[in-house]
Order: sequence, then C-alpha cells, then structure tokens
Amino acid sequence: MTSEGTHLDPEDWDDFGRDMHKLMDQRLARMKNARDLPWQPKPDDLADRVSLTRRTIGVGAEQAFARLADDIMPYATGNTHPRFFGWVHGAGLAVSVGAELVAATMNSNCGGRDHGAIEVERAVLDWLLGVSGLPESASAILTTGTSQATILALTAARNKQFGHDVRETGIQALPRVAVYVRRGTHSCIGKALEAMGYGTEAIHVVETDDEMRMDVASLKCAVIEDQAAGRVPLAVIGTAGSVNTGSFDKLNELADFCQDQDIWLHVDAAFGFWTRLADDPWAQLVDGMERVNSIACDFHKWMSIPYDCGACMIYNRTLHLDTFTSRPNYLEQQKEGLGGGDLWFCDYGLELSRGFRALKIWTAIKSIGTQAFAASISDNCKQTALMAELVEASDVLDLSFPVSSNICCFYVAYGKVNEIAAELQLSGDAVFSTTIIKGKASLRAALVNHRTTSEDIRESIRAVEAAVRRQM
Ligand SMILES: Cc1ncc(COP(=O)(O)O)c(C=O)c1O
Repeated sequence: MTSEGTHLDPEDWDDFGRDMHKLMDQRLARMKNARDLPWQPKPDDLADRVSLTRRTIGVGAEQAFARLADDIMPYATGNTHPRFFGWVHGAGLAVSVGAELVAATMNSNCGGRDHGAIEVERAVLDWLLGVSGLPESASAILTTGTSQATILALTAARNKQFGHDVRETGIQALPRVAVYVRRGTHSCIGKALEAMGYGTEAIHVVETDDEMRMDVASLKCAVIEDQAAGRVPLAVIGTAGSVNTGSFDKLNELADFCQDQDIWLHVDAAFGFWTRLADDPWAQLVDGMERVNSIACDFHKWMSIPYDCGACMIYNRTLHLDTFTSRPNYLEQQKEGLGGGDLWFCDYGLELSRGFRALKIWTAIKSIGTQAFAASISDNCKQTALMAELVEASDVLDLSFPVSSNICCFYVAYGKVNEIAAELQLSGDAVFSTTIIKGKASLRAALVNHRTTSEDIRESIRAVEAAVRRQM
C-alpha cells in the first residue's frame, strides 16, 4: 500500500464502517418515528454551530456524523410528519434513502456515456411517459424540479416556433411573443421567460371561469388581440393542479384550441400529474394530458421521492434533441466503450454533469409498486374531501374554495391566519400554510403525504378550531 499523496478516504475502514452503521441506525429510528417528530424551530445559534471557515480542520467521520445527528438532522423542514400540509412538500420514502446511499457510492455522472445508471434513468422515463399517455415519439429527462423543466419545455417551444437557428442567433431580431397563462399560474412560468430573455412582459393573463380554470373563450380573444398587435403566440400554459386552489384546467378544450391554432400547449403538472395514477373522479381531472406538447412535473411532491427530482416531457424526441444537443470534441460519440451508448442526457437539457436521480425513483417503484402509489394518491384526495367536510361543519371555519383534488383552503372566523398557522407550527400540532383566496387571507392545506391518516385530518381541524376559538 502506498502512502504517497493526500487521499481523502477513511484511514481505517473498520472504524468508518462502525460510524456508518451507527449513523444508519439513528436514521432508521428517525424515519420509523416520523409521527413523533413534528417541525421544530432551529436554535438561534445554529448558523454559528454549522459555520465553516478557511481554517476548518477535519474532525473525522465519527465527530462529523455526531454533528449531523445533533445539530442538523432535528431541524428539517418537517414534511416527513403526517400532519405537515404546508405548501406542496413531499413526505419522503424510506426505501429511497437506501437508493441514495447506493447512488452516492456509485457517484455516477448521468450527463452521458455508456454505463448502468443511464439504463436506470431510461427505465424510469419510459415508465413516466407511459403514465403520461404521450405518443411513442415523446422523450423525457429528469430535472431538479418543475421550475427547471419549464425552462426546457419553453425553450423547445421557442425552437419549434422559430427554427433551430435561434440557438445561434438568439431572440433579439425575432418578433415579440405571448405566453398565455391563467390567473394563479405558478411563478416558475415568469421565471422561465425571464431566463429565456423574453421577460415577464411576454405573459398574457387569461380570465378564469367560476372554478378558476382557464376560460377558453377569453383565451381565443387574447390570441386574436396579440396577433393583431404583431405578437407571436408562443405557448399556452395549462395548469394541472394550481398551487393556490388545486384547480385543473380543461386540458382537452385547451388541446382542441391549440391544435387548431398550431400553438404549443405546455402543462404545469407539478403535483397534479400524479392524479393520472389515481381513481376516478381524480384521474379524469387530467384527461387530455396525452395530447399536449410538453409537461413539467415533480417526483419530489406527490410521489414522495426525496428532494430534488422533477421531469420534463416533450412530445417529439427529435425536436427535444435538436433543442439541446451540443457535443464539443471531447464529448464526441464513440462506437464502443464509455463514449458509446445511444442516450446521453446532456443532449436533452441544460446540465452536462448530472447526478443519479433516477435510482431513488427506480428503487421506490420497484419496491413499492405503482398500485400502492396510486392508492396513496387517491387516499390523499379522500382525506382532502374529509377536511372540506369538517370545515363546512365547523362554526368557526369557512371553505374558501371547493376542493377538487388535494388542496383545501379555508377562512377563519376570528384571528389572523398567519398567526394561527404559526401557532400550530410552533406547537407541533400541524403545519398549514397561508394564501389569499378571493382577496381574503386563508389557511391552506396541500395533502401529498402518504403518512397522513383520516385521524390526522380530524386532529388537525380540531387544533385549528381550538386556535381560532382562543382568538375570540
Ligand atoms: C403548480 C406548481 N408549479 C410549479 C412549481 C415549482 O416546482 P419546483 O419547486 O419543483 O421547481 C410548484 C411548486 O410548488 C407548483 O406547485
């Protein structure tokens, strides 16, 4: 054995093995006891406790792991707890923790080359495209999340509209574009347009119907108005599960219109995509998804895959490839060896180096099975309906918007919703987030948690009612 040079692996693998096993046992206990561990605020001195400096001296794995356990692990976001309903945060999965360990050990770079991890991502994407119902010609890539997937999708839309020369010439000399969103569309659309150089000025907000879905008659008027003003309709954004109210646009109607007008139809299906796996009536909410040009969705929300992981799907593989392929000499395709292979993910997105995100998904689907995911998604929809019933029966709560899938928003008779949400978070009773519905502050629950039970819903609503009554 040589001792030359500075090597960063453990000096003693037996000691390291013991440290790892201890860490693993602690983490297993943490996951098993998720129900006993609601969110807790971080201590005031945490920033100091975790700070690193240029003079930081290594303390070894045993001590570093102890710090993970004592200083970092207890102060998580809280979304592993069954009564965490804030924002749209997935709950995580125990089996994916095992996959993360394997992925870190393999340390694969999934930007390209010919190796096993690529086949795993291919298998995951084939499964995903099967769920989407998109045609055989479609392709997909895993991303950090829906925000990144949206940039990829709208870039493909731009190239379809203006031709692939735009990759060289840029957009300066091109006409102004319009992108149609309905009120309440997620901010990731605006951010994507900013990153693409169009700016949020390109957004045309279309009126909604009574159920907060994009009104297709208003969309038609908006397109005519823009065309008359010399603006090119670049894309219509359908929403499958809006972040505020969980409402779903009528995708078939949007697809009819977009096909007729030859306008790209993109769907933000960050969490709502997964109702494709659910029972009716929830599965029907995404009828028409199979007819769209692109879809952005997240595995880290309703599929509970540990952060981060989303996906972008595009209906036409050739267009997808032509939008992103760029192979300098050092990445040239080879016939055999590591430089071979028919699927290089750097050809389908912005990242060259990419982690092995696919493994945590593959392991989850392989071990748990599609049917169990489907059942847990349907359960969340039933639990949300139960929450709405309890709210309607309450004399201090009032439903802000009808529930269609997994989001329930309600007003309170007394007190401020922000204060009530904070009180429930600090007490560890439940995590709700807040929003504005019809101009009025509202508590908001998004149910994407496979650990939640009906009793959790009842307990949470009892806790909210008690907090509201304390404000009387
Ligand atoms: C409807 C919707 N679209 C987009 C996003 C952004 O997704 P991500 O955080 O994965 O980028 C979210 C996040 O909550 C969302 O709910």
